[in-house]
Amino acid sequence: MKETFGIIGAGNIGQTVARHLVKAGHPVILANRSGGDSLKEIVHSLGAGATAGTISQAAGAEIVLLSLPWSEVSSLTDVADWKGRVVIDATNHFITYAPEFKVQDLGGKASSEVVASLLPGARIVKAFNTIFYRILAEDPMVAGGNRVLFVSGDDMPAKKEVMSIIASLGFAPIDLGNLSEGSKLQQAKGALATLNLVKF
Ligand SMILES: NC(=O)c1ccc[n+]([C@@H]2O[C@H](COP(=O)([O-])OP(=O)(O)OC[C@H]3O[C@@H](n4cnc5c(N)ncnc54)[C@H](OP(=O)(O)O)[C@@H]3O)[C@@H](O)[C@H]2O)c1
Repeated sequence: MKETFGIIGAGNIGQTVARHLVKAGHPVILANRSGGDSLKEIVHSLGAGATAGTISQAAGAEIVLLSLPWSEVSSLTDVADWKGRVVIDATNHFITYAPEFKVQDLGGKASSEVVASLLPGARIVKAFNTIFYRILAEDPMVAGGNRVLFVSGDDMPAKKEVMSIIASLGFAPIDLGNLSEGSKLQQAKGALATLNLVKF
């Protein structure tokens, strides 16, 4: 049985990743701020395997994807017991969007380290945050190669599990190491942010 994903944030990135996961046979539970009724059409368009849930139901899934605005991550601290849960952090620490795209001053910390401090005990893996969602939505197999997705994390088994799932979706996972150094390269304004690379 494939791992069930809880997707918190059902907008551009959440739906895009959900589509890849459902195609690969993973059940997904989507949750947003507005509640299940607002997700009916989205869930229908994703097809069998996708359901709408509450935020705490999504947070209780085997693997959780954070695909909500940065400013909202702190609202998740008490929605679940995060201890031991694999959490993929796809957020970027923007505090304004176009045209300025300002990021929060985190005092030198990686944004995923801040997420880790907000979700005590979660096994945080940074992934799915570098590519514009419309490109991420495309076929990951490009001209005989595989679109690259960067992955960072301090918990090696969690990172390996996420890399293996990413590979099964058709992407080429690249291990960037830990959160304090690796995830800084892929987070907003990092050297690898927005790059669309294909591995041959
Ligand atoms: N767009 C991209 O290409 C892209 C690429 C990489 C990373 N990211 C990052 O991914 C995250 C989401 O971006 P997006 O473009 O997908 O945003 P989006 O389309 O605006 O979707 C945001 C989603 O988060 C939900 N949400 C808001 N507050 C929430 C809360 N407190 N609890 C649960 N769900 C909540 C929204 O629900 P409601 O609609 O009910 O408010 C909506 O479903 C951001 O951190 C962004 O920086 C985006």
